[in-house]
Amino acid sequence: MKTYRVAIVGLGRMGSTIDDEGHTPLPYSVAAAAQASPRLELVAGCDLVADKCAAFSERWGVSATYQGMEEMVKQERPDLVAVCTRAAGTDQREAPSSNYRVDVHADLTIRLAEMGVPMLYVEKAVACSMARADEVLAAVTASGSAFNTGVLRRFDNRYGPVREAVLGGRIGEPRVVIHYASSSLLHGHIHSMDTVSWLIGDPAIQSVRGEFEDTDYEIVDGHVPFDPRATYQMRFEGGVEAWSVPGGYWEFEVLGSQGSVRSFNNGTDAQLRVAGEGRGWEIEPLPAPTPTSTVVSCLEDLVDAHEAGQATRGHVRVTHQITEACLAVAESHRQAGRWLAPSEVDRNLYVFHI
Ligand SMILES: NC(=O)c1ccc[n+]([C@@H]2O[C@H](COP(=O)([O-])OP(=O)(O)OC[C@H]3O[C@@H](n4cnc5c(N)ncnc54)[C@H](O)[C@@H]3O)[C@@H](O)[C@H]2O)c1
Repeated sequence: MKTYRVAIVGLGRMGSTIDDEGHTPLPYSVAAAAQASPRLELVAGCDLVADKCAAFSERWGVSATYQGMEEMVKQERPDLVAVCTRAAGTDQREAPSSNYRVDVHADLTIRLAEMGVPMLYVEKAVACSMARADEVLAAVTASGSAFNTGVLRRFDNRYGPVREAVLGGRIGEPRVVIHYASSSLLHGHIHSMDTVSWLIGDPAIQSVRGEFEDTDYEIVDGHVPFDPRATYQMRFEGGVEAWSVPGGYWEFEVLGSQGSVRSFNNGTDAQLRVAGEGRGWEIEPLPAPTPTSTVVSCLEDLVDAHEAGQATRGHVRVTHQITEACLAVAESHRQAGRWLAPSEVDRNLYVFHI
């Protein structure tokens, strides 16, 4: 079996240390996931902070560390690069000024695509504005790099039976999807919107509306200096409508003409109900897979796509669509909550996030 060389940009939590936080016993950092996969070899890492490089080197037994991405890629010629920096290039929770428009995920992704790296894992969200997301789409499409982002429920096998119930027609015609949890827009709802889309087979998004939790907040100069808590509605091609409910613990329910399927407690459990002979909907068994590492699945999906010349599960077009829907919530808030097509988002509207 061919093994592929992995390099990581940003050796903080997601790049190297998040496994220490107890979220899951499965490999979670990109470093742990790369070392857990027989198809991958962790060969290098880079961080602006020398101490992070030293800690990474010692922890993972990788001597090739750099303080700059370009030098690392030129020297190491990795097959797969993972971008694990923060999106807006700072560990502050708010933009330092009203004209701060730093967009590190987009900058690094575009440059890595231009440098011809064949496989890219990019932490979410991929950009802070649609101007930059459009550039990412163009650069990755031109390079042909296999591309996934860190929206990991798409790679979580516990959501598989839920999606199969929907796409296999067990609940009849899907009509409404509900996401339950209070969440920030670009850090959190990029996940919720992506999962909603994934569960119903990634149809095109026709229109979006939404608002910030602070309904009176006024967006000035196309710049939101923090990641706002928000709620949304989305309408998909084919007629499915999605709603976010700002309460509960990361649950998703798909309601159809003949039943419903719901994922509970952040994927821990799921239940299918279908129309029976009598009145109401009856519970039907649903497989409960043993969880596997989402990050290993995501990285191995890149390898599968690269080897087969096929699209990845979270390819750049679907990432672009979900990013546009997310930013459309901010655009809708600016326009008093009206429904709008995702393409109507002001390309320069910038929403700061980590
Ligand atoms: N998908 C998930 O489940 C998940 C979980 C945690 C974090 N994240 C995401 O991962 C990203 C990183 O978050 P984190 O908590 O690991 O941050 P972090 O601050 O712990 O790590 C980021 C590292 O990147 C380095 N860095 C910044 N700019 C750089 C550059 N240009 N070149 C090289 N290194 C650079 C920083 O010095 C820092 O060490 C965020 O976008 C966050 O949303 C995703």
